[in-house]
Amino acid sequence: MTASPITTPFHLDGNYRPVTTELTESELPVEGTIPEVLNGRYLRNGPNPRPGVTSTHWFYGDGMIHGVELSAGRARWYRNRWVRTNTFTDGATLLRSDFSVDRAAGLANTNVIAHAGRTLALVETSFPYELTNQLDTVGPYDFDGRLTTAMTAHPKICPTTGELHFFGYALTPPYLTYHCADATGRLIQSTEIDVPGPTMMHDFAITATHVVFFDLPVVFDIERALAGTMPFRWDDTYGARIGLLPRNQPHAHVTWHAIEPCYVFHVLNAYDNDEGVVIDALRYPELWRTGPDNFGGATLHRWTLPRNGNLVRETPIDNNIAEFPRIDDRYTGLPHRYGYAIHHTDPGEGHILHYDLHAGTTETISVGPARIPSEAVFVPASPDADEHDGYLLTYVYDTTRGTSDLVILLANEPTSPPVATVHLPQRVPLGFHGNWIPANP
Ligand SMILES: [Fe+2]
Repeated sequence: MTASPITTPFHLDGNYRPVTTELTESELPVEGTIPEVLNGRYLRNGPNPRPGVTSTHWFYGDGMIHGVELSAGRARWYRNRWVRTNTFTDGATLLRSDFSVDRAAGLANTNVIAHAGRTLALVETSFPYELTNQLDTVGPYDFDGRLTTAMTAHPKICPTTGELHFFGYALTPPYLTYHCADATGRLIQSTEIDVPGPTMMHDFAITATHVVFFDLPVVFDIERALAGTMPFRWDDTYGARIGLLPRNQPHAHVTWHAIEPCYVFHVLNAYDNDEGVVIDALRYPELWRTGPDNFGGATLHRWTLPRNGNLVRETPIDNNIAEFPRIDDRYTGLPHRYGYAIHHTDPGEGHILHYDLHAGTTETISVGPARIPSEAVFVPASPDADEHDGYLLTYVYDTTRGTSDLVILLANEPTSPPVATVHLPQRVPLGFHGNWIPANP
């Protein structure tokens, strides 16, 4: 009798494999020249189970932030730190023994943002966790007690008002709540949104006039919950719709528009035009029908919601499998021309995709043989630079050297050699999302 081979799940293998130590390294070696305008910190979050802990799903590892501080053309430091959530330090669980919900419990593993002077690590089940500039954990942050739901890991900062728009979803009513904090960080609106049931709602969008929700057929599944894995599954009966809520009108209602069933983890952007609302996002034809580890592939897709009440128009934009879409964040909710995403061809290779939505072209950008980029974040060359005039920052894993670099590319000449490559003292596992946080915003 032969034993079955033990296979390592993909999320614990290759460069998904967690790192085991927290490092602090100063004055990192740099090839090329770091632009002087890059004065701040590049932070990125991702799941990294602690030693001795095995996560059952890619989404379940303890959050770890990898950060690099740049100033005066130098790479001042690299740090990686687990977020010390109550779950990390004390084993706290979302559902307490008395079945009440503890939103301070969670993994804080999905994104890291800055708003109103606070750096926040986010996961969609829980409250944010505030971090210091050196990535130490301050504690859970609930907007001075005003936030009573979870907070999405994909809030949107309006570049015009400075407002922080976000939502929280839940498995019990209210299933969906929209929130807005003003530019000072004060929570000024919380509005319950009526949806048919509990779904996994990962991202949303804003335009200059509306908040955009995706109510899609990946629904809560009690059997998967009891099995201890990701508690959602595809449901052919749920339907699919996009909702528009007018901004800054606390008593307004959502208007829902039916779309072809699909799933969206990530929106590229949305905006108003003469016809109505345009939404560009990465669309999966379906998700998690047979199990929560089968992701399939997403491609860039456009939904146009006409103001005159006509049916939604759906248009495929590009056929490259892609994830981690980003724009120049100064265009959040406004018409954008350019976008960036990641295309992983096989376990040993990956590319950055550079979308030009006006020209209708997609450029595939290599970061070198056997090198794999992660989410690429755009940083403008100056506060009033054109949409395309700036840099892309991405952690790149070098499969030959077994370590990682912070690579800085010219966004408008992405096939040129990097302007700078910062060599990091350890591998950065393929994680989720991050942001450039300027020292002087
Ligand atoms: Fe995400």
